[in-house]
Amino acid sequence: MTRPEIRQITEDEKQIQERYIASVKEILPHSLKYNIVTLGCQMNVHDSEVMAGMLDEMGMTMCENREDADLIIYNTCCVRENAENKALGNVIWLKELKAVKPDLIIGVGGCMTQQPGVIERIKVMYPFIDLAFGTHNMYKLPEMIYRLIAKRQRVFEYDTSDGTICEGLPVRRNSSFSAYINIMYGCNNFCTYCIVPYVRGRERSREQQAILDEAKALRDQGVKEIMLLGQNVNSYQGGGTRFAELLYQINRLGIPRIRFMTSHPKDISPELIACFSELEHLCKHLHLPVQAGNNDILRAMNRRYTREAYIEKVKDIRRVCPDIGLTSDIIVGFPGETPEQFEDTMSLVEQVRFDAAFTFVYSPREGTIAAKLPDHTTAEEKSQRIQRLIALQQSITSDVCESMIGTVQEVLVEGVSARDDHMICGKTGRSHMVNFEGDRDLIGRFARVRIVSAGKSTLRGQLID
Ligand code: 5AD
Ligand code: SF4
Repeated sequence: MTRPEIRQITEDEKQIQERYIASVKEILPHSLKYNIVTLGCQMNVHDSEVMAGMLDEMGMTMCENREDADLIIYNTCCVRENAENKALGNVIWLKELKAVKPDLIIGVGGCMTQQPGVIERIKVMYPFIDLAFGTHNMYKLPEMIYRLIAKRQRVFEYDTSDGTICEGLPVRRNSSFSAYINIMYGCNNFCTYCIVPYVRGRERSREQQAILDEAKALRDQGVKEIMLLGQNVNSYQGGGTRFAELLYQINRLGIPRIRFMTSHPKDISPELIACFSELEHLCKHLHLPVQAGNNDILRAMNRRYTREAYIEKVKDIRRVCPDIGLTSDIIVGFPGETPEQFEDTMSLVEQVRFDAAFTFVYSPREGTIAAKLPDHTTAEEKSQRIQRLIALQQSITSDVCESMIGTVQEVLVEGVSARDDHMICGKTGRSHMVNFEGDRDLIGRFARVRIVSAGKSTLRGQLID
């Protein structure tokens, strides 16, 4: 096998981008307003924070309303077909906006545009799109914006390497109390249904010290919760440091809450399990995608664990931390999944009792192994399967919520409740959303709350003074 081509972006390369930032600042006729639309996972949310950081440094200002923006960037996802349709649907809407606002600059970046051939297609088929780039060259945004504005050319940048690591980029964080930190990028697992390894490149971990420095700076700014991000965080290996060891180091910094996402069941080590009892700042929540409950399907998915091994891991975790909340991702209708094989997924869900699960109908992704497999299950059958799975999970989620009634929880208050603006809301360490009456001054702080009732997936509480 050839060695993956992973590039650490050098100081010199970064300085070139800093010079472009200064140049854009000089040539901007007025403070340009930008808006970034983010589709997809937390990784994309954080990438958008980095893009916003760079645009801020160029002297632009973020605006809430897309209609008011001079520059709109779509940060796209391609994990399932509907994510791509969403991006393309949005982009078509922009064509109309551009017809009435010809100076509008439209950019598209992220996972969808990292797929081979997509940028070329955009260039030809979407003449109203001015800028397109992938995931590995996002750090070059200043240079791309410069070429766009100073040279008045459309810019299309494609990086075919296996990925880059770029330290020290500016970040405009969405929250002052809860922050994302990337610890690794890419994925080497090649689950047969998944496009991610093709668009996010090979696994590459950041140096431990760079992560600790970022976490320390956030702590010093008063951040209460950090979420360590990676496609597969438990295969983190920065300079020989394993993930569990990194967690110990971060725990020592004293940030009240540490979370991480996402973990692969095959890489859950005894050391990592021990962290849930030993590290006081590690939240008692683990997102552990199982994907399916049947061994033949798991093998066809290339998940590299069996149903029994998954259940055994869950037991080990609960032995160490009985009140941990487990959540999962589950796919129904993988090519060739029989009704009996689907029943195995149902029985696993019944047995494990997740706090919550994201459920998906399998979506063929061009270029993946599973996309070539024969699939005779009708859309109707798949829809019936997912509905049964959702109903089962909802009943488990509501049982779990009910079991919380009477307990006292520490809640990190995130904002005003979505449904009732007289209420505020936030999450418990186990990731349950709690709504309760309280002063908006509590946003960004911890509150002790007694749980008084449970909804289908959220809790209702009373503030304890
Ligand atoms: N079809 C349906 N779901 C998918 N996922 C990833 N690829 C696909 C696909 N082709 C789901 C997996 C993964 C989550 C992020 O998205 O469950 O864990
Ligand atoms: Fe996709 Fe599997 Fe990698 Fe997760 S572990 S990103 S599902 S290939």
